[in-house]
Amino acid sequence: MLEYPCLTLVLWALKYVVVQGLLDLKNKFPKRLNILQLDLTIESSIKACTMSVREKYGSLNRLINASGILSIPNMLQPETTLNRVEKSSLMLAYEVNAVGPILVIRLLLAVTKTVSVEFEQKKDPIVCILLHPGIVDTDLSRPFQRNVPEGKLFTKEYSVQKLLNIINNAKSHDNDKFFAWDGQEIPW
Ligand SMILES: *[C@@H]1O[C@H](CO)[C@@H](O)[C@H](O)[C@H]1NC(C)=O
Repeated sequence: MLEYPCLTLVLWALKYVVVQGLLDLKNKFPKRLNILQLDLTIESSIKACTMSVREKYGSLNRLINASGILSIPNMLQPETTLNRVEKSSLMLAYEVNAVGPILVIRLLLAVTKTVSVEFEQKKDPIVCILLHPGIVDTDLSRPFQRNVPEGKLFTKEYSVQKLLNIINNAKSHDNDKFFAWDGQEIPW
């Protein structure tokens, strides 16, 4: 955030996760960081969030989806064997990982439409890319870090720096492409 003096971040926090790092960041940058509560499994909650973004900012320059879930204590376990597969876990993962983010995009486009129609001629086309952050030292990867080769477990700062570099340089011909943290295109 220090490198981007004009940046206002709007973050969505899932109801399942209260991230201490996020709260620390909010204390450090109370004016520039706006955290909105969102339950990706409830459409009205997504709507309320997108409405408040519109009221406050009019539109967004970047939308980054990083709302994946893999496990939630006492609720969702990674399906390591077929025996452990539960319908409720599969549905929850699908709702949060696939359905929710698409609804966010749809609702955000709808609420910012009036703004973007006005600027249609001048406006940059929307570019949508996929990113692989590498293996980052977070709670998500912690249970799997044993198998990571030496030097391949990145700090959050390093990975974010790499990904921002890719995002900031994305052009319309990059649409639909999948990039690794180092800028290499990944076939998919
Ligand atoms: C959103 O990001 C999460 C975490 O990277 C990923 O698991 C999920 O598939 C993404 N969803 C969409 C619709 O791109």
